[in-house]
Amino acid sequence: MDQKQHDLLVIGAGPGGYVAAIRAAQLGLDVACIDKEPRLGGTCLRVGCIPSKALLESSEKYHEVHAGLESHGIKTGGVALDLEAMLARKTKIVHDLTDGIAGLFKKNKVTRYEGTGRLDGPGKVVVEGTDTVTITAKHVLIATGSASASFPGMEMDGDVVGDSTTALSYPEVPKHLIVIGAGYIGLELGSVWRRLGAEVTVVEYLDRILPGTDAEIAREAQKLFKRQGIKFVLKSKVTSARKTKGGAVVEIEGKDPIEGDRVLVAVGRKPYTDGLGLDTVGVELDERGRIPVDAHFATKAGGVFAIGDVIAGPMLAHKAEEEGVACVEHIVTGWGHVDHGTIPGVCYTDPEIAGVGQTEEQLKEAGVPFRKGVFFFRANSRARAIDRIDGRVKILAHEETDRILGVHMIGPDAGHLIAEAVAAMAFGASSEDIARVCHAHPTLSETVKEAALAVDGRPIHA
Ligand code: NAI
Repeated sequence: MDQKQHDLLVIGAGPGGYVAAIRAAQLGLDVACIDKEPRLGGTCLRVGCIPSKALLESSEKYHEVHAGLESHGIKTGGVALDLEAMLARKTKIVHDLTDGIAGLFKKNKVTRYEGTGRLDGPGKVVVEGTDTVTITAKHVLIATGSASASFPGMEMDGDVVGDSTTALSYPEVPKHLIVIGAGYIGLELGSVWRRLGAEVTVVEYLDRILPGTDAEIAREAQKLFKRQGIKFVLKSKVTSARKTKGGAVVEIEGKDPIEGDRVLVAVGRKPYTDGLGLDTVGVELDERGRIPVDAHFATKAGGVFAIGDVIAGPMLAHKAEEEGVACVEHIVTGWGHVDHGTIPGVCYTDPEIAGVGQTEEQLKEAGVPFRKGVFFFRANSRARAIDRIDGRVKILAHEETDRILGVHMIGPDAGHLIAEAVAAMAFGASSEDIARVCHAHPTLSETVKEAALAVDGRPIHA
């Protein structure tokens, strides 16, 4: 077996791993990155964030042409779906982006190994696969991400009963898609197939959708999704899902089973640590299967670090990226930091849902005194002009200091609008700071300014 040596070895080429590898190379380290997939980019680029956004865009256009253009005075006819072409466009986007990472690796002189990496004692990793090699490295960074969760009773055949990867490539529009779980994945992919014509039923264990999201925003989201024709069956624990002769059946505790022709299991993701050889360096997982790390992403094994979905915190690509950069910067320079209090979350449904900081429920539970400003998109002139009037922006600020503690929104382009709130919070801004900043007119961003004015009871257009 070949023997190689590098300064830093990154296991996993998802957004956390590949970004960390590039940053470390910029800082002068000799870096290598291992991934078992031929295409770099991890779940996010290959079968997650990017292909789902490609399909969300295509399905939104299709739906708009069918149902959203008449009010603009545009008549259409003979519109037809070419699902094959839609899926091919998605695949091309994925290929272009994953090729782009391979190019960035070359440019930054990051060595790439294709195979499964396994720790084999301190500072040693064995790669098995297309490349078979033993690598020694002073630093090893684990960025192996997560895998779809399931539970006993879910008979996943990867086709009729499958996870998000399957749902990105159904060869035909399902007649009735049953989605288990009303989290980000269930709602984004449920929306795609609903817009393309499927009947969609979302079964959720809790009494609400989008757990962890500000409840006021989640309630509005549910109302809007219902209007789009998505059916919700809440307070319902799915006990089994399986393929039948003609389709699939989902069984629910204490309720009638639901029949459909496809099932998307979207009940969360679990850290991916299978076969990593953590025992060979004395690292034990916590009670939720995550790798415990300190503030600088070091595990208790010297020279072994971990970031992203395999450690605690939200399973989000941008969180992993920040951690990857901070981890390698700390290794090289002694400095490196992530502000975990200002990591935004975005659900790319229509309308989009975005939030940063604490929710109203969290503030109430913690007994933090706050003031709240809400502004509705229907009172924003640009939202009217583009006919996208559903939704609201909500700013929560400390009652005494006015420091912004959380911003939550649902509405057109919320995923972009949240960036202002993130930057403001990162700089420790007050709601008055945002209220005094000039926002271009007519733009959707004025809703954020108006919500900030509303914290002080002085919005102009409400
Ligand atoms: P999730 O944890 O967000 O939601 C899973 C839902 O399934 C929960 O509401 C839970 O109550 C429900 N559930 C669990 N067991 C159930 C049962 N037996 N019966 C009925 N309901 C049940 O997980 P999801 O949507 O699978 O997403 C996984 C991860 O991927 C999340 O961490 C999410 O943040 C991330 N993600 C982020 C995206 C984004 O940033 N736009 C997009 C997609 C995923």
